Amino acid sequence: MTRPQPELRIAIDSAGLRRRIDELALISEAPPPVVTRVLFSEADLRGRDYVRRAAREAGLAVREDAVGNLFARWEGSEPGLPAVGSGSHTDAIPNAGRYDGVVGVLGAFEALAALKRAGFAPRRSLEVVMFTAEEPTRFGLGCLGSRLMAGSIPVEKALALRDSEGRSLDELRGTAGYAGPLESVRLPPGHYHAFVELHIEQGPILEAEGIPIGIVTHIAGPSSYRVTLHGEGGHAGAVLMPVRHDALLAGAEIALAVERAAKTSGSPDTVGTVGVLRIEPGAVNSVPFRAYLEIDLRDARLDTRAKALAEIRSSADEACARRGVTMEFEEINEDPPAAGDAATVAIAEKVCAGLGLRSQRMVSRAYHDSLFMSRVSPTTMIFIPCRNGWSHRPEEYASPEHIASGAEVLAHTLAALST
Ligand code: GLV
Ligand code: MN
Ligand code: MN
Repeated sequence: MTRPQPELRIAIDSAGLRRRIDELALISEAPPPVVTRVLFSEADLRGRDYVRRAAREAGLAVREDAVGNLFARWEGSEPGLPAVGSGSHTDAIPNAGRYDGVVGVLGAFEALAALKRAGFAPRRSLEVVMFTAEEPTRFGLGCLGSRLMAGSIPVEKALALRDSEGRSLDELRGTAGYAGPLESVRLPPGHYHAFVELHIEQGPILEAEGIPIGIVTHIAGPSSYRVTLHGEGGHAGAVLMPVRHDALLAGAEIALAVERAAKTSGSPDTVGTVGVLRIEPGAVNSVPFRAYLEIDLRDARLDTRAKALAEIRSSADEACARRGVTMEFEEINEDPPAAGDAATVAIAEKVCAGLGLRSQRMVSRAYHDSLFMSRVSPTTMIFIPCRNGWSHRPEEYASPEHIASGAEVLAHTLAALST
């Protein structure tokens, strides 16, 4: 139930928001314009400092949980009611840009600051979350913080995670200053009344259609797998071709099988990628005795994703048998798609209409922390255009005007939900 309100005059400080996005981009493991902020790296820790400061400057009270999810809260007049949440992530994959996730964190701070300047008084508390490790770079598993918040990953599975150097989540969160039982990260039931994440589209549709706002009705379901191949090494000059058991070549066949299976699944939404491939010993004059691959497979539908997976597995079995290579094929995650909440989508649409901004309903092909927030709260996302649909690369770009429009829509939507 929303109560009547005096008309809200929101003025987003577009220049200030832009400046903060640019400042955070300078906190990176690589020189500009590249942004790399891998979970619990030195850059991620400095980024977290920046975010804490920005939250306090927006007049919000900060707390952090045992895995480093950061909550910046504006207490409502009825603080016992479920809060209205927003937020995203600030970790960045290697060689990324400055907008993915960041717009949803710093944009939400600015939305709340603008609501404060407008004299708005929320009934429900407003809470911005900076989620830990939306990106899978360190542990191979995306949305670690929101998964734990939603209770979508058993704590034992999180504790068993290891990075490529064998370091555990416990060890790394400890060095970052986070302690306490991971069970405590799980949100109490009904913590959020609604959750709205602002994000760049990471696709070309809004820009191509000249529409400033997308409202997300569905998020495609991601899955990922780790494949370890054991062959036989040897001298690249001395081991003749008929007797080789080359682990890399089995991996290469699997990568091609991923492409083939995704293209022939029967759904235009099936996408498959091998984004990680490591070989040992990695010497030009040595036959690879081990290969390690990570497969990312996504779809808006579960049946076509399952069909593609079955085809990948049978091609992999066949290639390994033929080549005399043994294989371990492990699931990292298999997440179902998520549906946005119809009432929350309708509120965001009404806000756009009221502001004279064209909007369009869309499916998110990328995953987001909203995939997990949607399991514990009515959820939607607000998308803004990004140049050429580019993301996960340094050329990623969203215009200050589009970012400000997104923050304005977010501010009004949060206001409507918190009243
Ligand atoms: C999130 O970054 C994704 O890979 O969709
Ligand atoms: Mn990303
Ligand atoms: Mn993102």
